[in-house]
Amino acid sequence: MNSVPKTFRVKSFGCQMNVYDGERMTELLGANGMTAAAHGDDADLVVLNTCHIREKAAEKAYSEVGRLRREDGSKPLVALAGCVAQAEGAEARRRSPMIDMVVGPQAYHRLPEMVAEAVRGGRPVDTDMPAISKFDALPQRRRANPSAFLSVQEGCDKFCTYCVVPYTRGAEISRPWNDIVVEAQQLADSGAREIVLLGQNVNAWSEGDRGLADLIRAIAKIDGLERIRYTTSHPMDMTDALIEAHADVAKLMPYLHLPVQSGSNPILRAMNRSHTVESYLAILEKVRAARPDIALSGDFIVGFPGETEEDFAATLNLVDEVGYAAAYSFKYSPRPGTPAASMEDQISPDVMDERLQRLQTRITEHQVAFNRTSIGKETEILIERKGRFAGQMIGRSPWLQSVHVETDAVVGEIIPVTLLSAGPNSMKGAMLAKVAA
Ligand code: SAH
Ligand code: SF4
Ligand code: F3S
Repeated sequence: MNSVPKTFRVKSFGCQMNVYDGERMTELLGANGMTAAAHGDDADLVVLNTCHIREKAAEKAYSEVGRLRREDGSKPLVALAGCVAQAEGAEARRRSPMIDMVVGPQAYHRLPEMVAEAVRGGRPVDTDMPAISKFDALPQRRRANPSAFLSVQEGCDKFCTYCVVPYTRGAEISRPWNDIVVEAQQLADSGAREIVLLGQNVNAWSEGDRGLADLIRAIAKIDGLERIRYTTSHPMDMTDALIEAHADVAKLMPYLHLPVQSGSNPILRAMNRSHTVESYLAILEKVRAARPDIALSGDFIVGFPGETEEDFAATLNLVDEVGYAAAYSFKYSPRPGTPAASMEDQISPDVMDERLQRLQTRITEHQVAFNRTSIGKETEILIERKGRFAGQMIGRSPWLQSVHVETDAVVGEIIPVTLLSAGPNSMKGAMLAKVAA
């Protein structure tokens, strides 16, 4: 028997969808009479909301679990959640006696029952992917960050040959239109000024003949909500309707994260990406025609099996051709059970390190160049947090640049600024006089 937990802590790793899930679990546990432990304080229940996307994910999760043992030998109740939980299932209980509960990303609405079972001495595992929506069982949104996440689509049917997501998150499903609009309204009522629509393939969201563009247009009608973003998109689902929305929905921010992974067609084919370099560039051309100032970002994998120096050079070329405002790059990591893990010609770690470094240097050059072109612009930022110095606040420009500014404006305000100077990761701005309404 364990004692009934009064305090809890949820620690999320991985993508924004995990951050969103972590927020929902926090709200759920709160609605069930527990309180969030203060920062740094011990908690009676710890939920580790894990990510499985890259190397040694499971090992890292188990070592996190191990660290939860207290100096006096006691331990909190431990729930392993997220994508490692989904991948490991009941095996997790065998591998670590510290783990009391294993809860997958589609089952966390059952967390309070599972905690009760663990208190009784049970060790429940739930990695089902039920047809009924977990969202129906979650409390309504009452607290929101100025920029709030909202998951609208889950899972993936694309089966890129390197990726675990289709296995850990299951098949693509779209949340119902009404639920999303209701939740967006709740977030706006709770102080959100910006909503970031989330999905592993967010632009594959659909209901009947309605797509993500329709959803964006509906959410744009919510008063008090000033900005809309969405991530992550797949080139295959980048419809003309969505591109069109970038041209005429003022609240849709000029930023698009569209992962490409490689600039070489043979590698893209081996990755099962279903787009070519040319078709990817054609999409970006249309997007730029619709919204000339759009900031583009992407994801890259270096060292996919069989990647030659020539393939890699093609990736660098693509980076130059697009001129990304930001981009994320990763060393290929073989994931158990994925087709690429058993392909021939795995690339050596040294070669991967060296390519990653060259790619990141190139990406940084473009980031700096993009930020420099913004110098002198008059725009608006949404203030998200305090800066390091008194009177300094940090906000986001429409192009998702992090902007530091001295102001007496508070978190959640949208203020006019001039962009003054630029580094690779942030810009300095000066507040302009507020225009009288
Ligand atoms: N659904 C999104 C996000 C997938 S995970 C998409 O398709 O873009 C985020 C990024 O992690 C991917 O875009 C890819 O660049 C990277 N990634 C995924 N699996 C990986 C692996 N096995 N090794 C290295 N990077 C990987
Ligand atoms: Fe993974 Fe590809 Fe699906 Fe993205 S589209 S989640 S990279 S399988
Ligand atoms: Fe990681 Fe799962 Fe997200 S594997 S990237 S937490 S979908």
